[in-house]
Amino acid sequence: MTKLDLHDYVASVKDYPEAGVTFRDISPLMGNGAAYRQSINQIQEFANDLNVDLIAGPESRGFIVGSPLAYALGVGFVPARKVGKLPRKAVSASYTLEYGGVNELEIHEDAIQPGQRVLIVDDLLATGGTINATRKIIEELGGVVAGVAFIIELEALHGREKIMEAGEVPFLALMEY
Ligand code: PRP
Ligand code: ADE
Repeated sequence: MTKLDLHDYVASVKDYPEAGVTFRDISPLMGNGAAYRQSINQIQEFANDLNVDLIAGPESRGFIVGSPLAYALGVGFVPARKVGKLPRKAVSASYTLEYGGVNELEIHEDAIQPGQRVLIVDDLLATGGTINATRKIIEELGGVVAGVAFIIELEALHGREKIMEAGEVPFLALMEY
């Protein structure tokens, strides 16, 4: 099958949600079966070498990447939810965003068993705050971060360096902007 250029399926919106930010919208990619499948397949190839027990993804766009990936790999999916959504005991971590201030994510404390290898995925890496908060929770629960994977990396925001500062892990981004 011909390989698509996934850049053709990203809509770039200047000054959204605030002046100075260019929003990289993956809606066209998700809305195209071939582009969506290719994205998940490429991340699956990366995951194949990592001996992954679980996929974790932050709310909400991380669910769009993580759920089909978990299904394809035949492993479980762990949602890192925005604060106040989980009904049982959870571990949380707060972080700051490229826009929109401070936020907090939570994972149920029984979602990850000590020693389980977890691949964290999201649609986009900006400052790295979301991923590092997700990672902090996973590690607090005794999980091992097997790798991190994104559809898009915003290079100018140096999120990758922030991730590696917390400890080197295998890294994949399907596209850089
Ligand atoms: C976006 C995006 C990533 C995060 C990246 O999510 O989906 O999760 O920002 O930014 P960072 O690397 O600076 O942390 P957002 O918080 O906007 O929530 P959404 O997925 O619900 O739209
Ligand atoms: N999340 C954080 N920064 C973003 C951006 N520039 N585009 C899309 N999602 C984002």
